[in-house]
Amino acid sequence: MLLGGAAAGAGVAALTACTPGIDETPQDSLLDVGTDTIPFFGTHQAGIATPPQAFATFVALTLRNEADAEAIRRMLQVLTDDASRLAEGRGALADTEPELARTPARLTVTLGFGSALVRRAAGRSAVPSWLKPLPSFGIDDLDDRWTGGDLLLHVAADDQVTVAHAVRMLLKTARATALPKWRQSGFRRSRGSEKPGTTMRNLFGQVDGTVNLRPEDDDFASGVWNDEGWMAGGTSCVLRRIRMDLDGWDRLDTPGRDQAMGRRQSDGAPLTGEHEFDEPDFEAMGPHGFSVIPDFSHIARARGDDPRPTMLRRSFNYDDDPVDAGDGGITDAGLLFLAYQRDVDEGFVPVQRRLDELDLLNQWTTPVGSAVFAIPPGCQKGGFIGDTLF
Ligand code: HEM
Repeated sequence: MLLGGAAAGAGVAALTACTPGIDETPQDSLLDVGTDTIPFFGTHQAGIATPPQAFATFVALTLRNEADAEAIRRMLQVLTDDASRLAEGRGALADTEPELARTPARLTVTLGFGSALVRRAAGRSAVPSWLKPLPSFGIDDLDDRWTGGDLLLHVAADDQVTVAHAVRMLLKTARATALPKWRQSGFRRSRGSEKPGTTMRNLFGQVDGTVNLRPEDDDFASGVWNDEGWMAGGTSCVLRRIRMDLDGWDRLDTPGRDQAMGRRQSDGAPLTGEHEFDEPDFEAMGPHGFSVIPDFSHIARARGDDPRPTMLRRSFNYDDDPVDAGDGGITDAGLLFLAYQRDVDEGFVPVQRRLDELDLLNQWTTPVGSAVFAIPPGCQKGGFIGDTLF
């Protein structure tokens, strides 16, 4: 039986009124999750300094052989138009399901360029020196399935349906010029599950992201935003798919886990401190003459001479089908590790070299995918992402 509008409304009101623990405020704020928007236009692309959303999908595309500068330009113009509309909660121009666009849920679309795209659009001299595959590292076990790409679509929102819809619209627009090579999806806690600003936990259970560049810090801009030529206001993105051996980690006891990291898993505090944001004391010695924070721990190795970080780490967890289910594997999980810096060779590479030489955490983590993209600056209304290239 269908209830009339008034009766149905009264029913909902009664239900709300008598549901314990639910009052108007959380209900209102829950709805805000869907309607909230992040401005698309600006000096920098959205999706980098933006507080990370709950869901992110990364699609790397390969340019079709015949895609020339003009085709790339047209594609970027339409992608920009689609992305700006979707970010406002409006359907894309040729949206077949505009109903799905009405819940923007802080949608951001961030475009990244591989070297082939930059070369075809503007010639070899426009390719930044760092826009190339990373040097190979001893710990790597890379699979082409998650490596490289000419164009990156990074689509993120606090709602998975929103992400899926936006990805499909953008891929339809790109299809005449570029086709998907790989797709990877990741997640963090849902909005509202934890206090805003809580540092994320990865699937090892670790507090991950404590020592990081933060948009409110003075050195964020100089660490993250590039200021050279067509890239001014853009940045570089390193995306590493790093598999985490959750079964192996299970076999490690709490002190073992804490020693591997140099921080307590329970609350993220350094082994020499009480609270998450206490400064680690790498000189402190324990009773047996060993450093309290082991020299081979992840944080001791990741830290350079300068205590300030050289990159913005902005990772997402992934949890996919097991790679080798026949072998008792139950999951393929890890981090879509994302690092943003003005220059990959200054930001990411020196840290990865140190970790490659020595880091206890390497026993449980393996990079299996790797890609580097130039993230062009943002654009104003009437412009398009990548317009500084043309
Ligand atoms: C699956 C792989 C990884 C895991 C599980 C992991 C986990 C963590 C955790 C839990 C922390 C301590 C909390 C914090 O400050 O964020 C940390 C710190 C850090 N990690 Fe990683 N990490 C991984 C890979 C990497 C990679 C590939 C890099 C860069 C090449 C990196 C660079 C850093 C840096 C720079 C810090 C801060 C160190 C400091 O205190 O100065 N991590 N990581």
